Amino acid sequence: MLYSINIIGWAIVASKIFVVTLPLLSKKSNVIVMASKLWEKSVQVNHDVDTYTVGKDREMDMYLARYDVLGSLAHITMLESINLLTAEELATLTGALREIYGEIEQGKFKIEDGIEDVHSQVELMLTRRLGDTGKKIHSGRSRNDQVLVDLRLYIRSEIEEVVNVMTVLFKTLISQSERYKNVLMPGYTHLQVAMPSSFGLWFGAYAESLADDLTVLRAAYEITDRNPLGSAAGYGSSFPLNRTMTTKLLGFASLDYNVVYAQMGRGKTERIVANAIANIAATIAKLAFDSCMFSSQNFGFIKLADEFTTGSSIMPHKKNPDVFELTRAKCNKLQSLPYQITLITNNLPSGYFRDLQLIKESFLPSFDELKDILVMTNAMMSQIKVNEHILDDSRYDPMFSVEEVNRLASDGMPFRDAYKKVGLEIEAGQFKARKEVHHTHEGSIGNLCNGQIENLYRSTLEKFDFNTYHTAFAKLLGRENG
Ligand code: ARG
Repeated sequence: MLYSINIIGWAIVASKIFVVTLPLLSKKSNVIVMASKLWEKSVQVNHDVDTYTVGKDREMDMYLARYDVLGSLAHITMLESINLLTAEELATLTGALREIYGEIEQGKFKIEDGIEDVHSQVELMLTRRLGDTGKKIHSGRSRNDQVLVDLRLYIRSEIEEVVNVMTVLFKTLISQSERYKNVLMPGYTHLQVAMPSSFGLWFGAYAESLADDLTVLRAAYEITDRNPLGSAAGYGSSFPLNRTMTTKLLGFASLDYNVVYAQMGRGKTERIVANAIANIAATIAKLAFDSCMFSSQNFGFIKLADEFTTGSSIMPHKKNPDVFELTRAKCNKLQSLPYQITLITNNLPSGYFRDLQLIKESFLPSFDELKDILVMTNAMMSQIKVNEHILDDSRYDPMFSVEEVNRLASDGMPFRDAYKKVGLEIEAGQFKARKEVHHTHEGSIGNLCNGQIENLYRSTLEKFDFNTYHTAFAKLLGRENG
């Protein structure tokens, strides 16, 4: 019985697959993509399969185009050094690749219809321009290590840009912290009024959070700054490749030594970097939530500049904090990135798989999203107005209770007795708040340690060495003096 149900079940499943797949494959079966694949030999590729496998890759590879050319410039220089290209061929290829790089910069470069990816497009352009010489550049290389190196170069310069905008925000937060260090505000636990806090602490806390986020980003950078080129399909090559040479030419700090590990870095590097991005996003999401909440009428602690609020179509009085709300949502979305990458790569053994291609779709655009968030957050934080009279409202008086207990304890009363005395006064409605605070220890209202936080940030910042790769790129592009 069970057996026959299974047979019927399989028949249904099989017929569904048949019904679904048949039109998919036959729809345009007369449209055959002509021999445009680097790997296409005697069997021609079905159009639908091609569309399905290429997916959004042409769009995604545009992010990588300039780095693909830089990788090729390093690769051919190395090929010449091991006699796989003549000096003349190297010179012609270098000229043509620099020309293509210029076209990318000018926005003239395009991955043509029917061309699978950026790697194929660049090789096709070289072959069109230089004939057989163009076909020589792929010796000792696979698209697997090509995309690996492209990604590393892309990530490296995107991290540089993230660091730059993040540093601007860090400085704004520190200067706002200093500016408002004497303005008190309530601190909350369980979202219940708890203890005195200050705007100095509030702004400074987010600055220190960014300093820690920078430490993680720096670690992600270090892992990125290693050269996978030369791992070819993931197992190296029988050509005597000089991997140390391409490492220097591309301005990498070192190389991924083991070729199998170099290939395993696909997905792993993105996941590590995505985690670093997610940390920054988490910091900003919290700041955005605080800002939405503190700007609502029921708190009224801060006021957002009018240009950062939006109106309502029905309620004429509304000034909504949409910019912060979208910032919060964008940041929450960015925090899903490491999970997406984890799920795509989770059950893959070592070696290359096409699954890895899909990571590009959410990973590559994430840097632009993060930079936009940081720029916008900086604009809002620099123009935010702080309410300097929050504590005139008696509803916040109880937050001074601990101050009073501490005062009595300092005068010699045992802490527990002081606690009880003040507690009873509060219960009887007789507590009189003395609205002054004497917090002097490190990191407290009266001693923010902003200088130390700046040192922490600066010392990490100084560990980034972007110059080495800028100099290397300028050399590859023949632009040392420009
Ligand atoms: N588009 C591919 C990717 O992103 C490029 C590498 C293709 N390699 C291959 N063996 N099919 O992974």
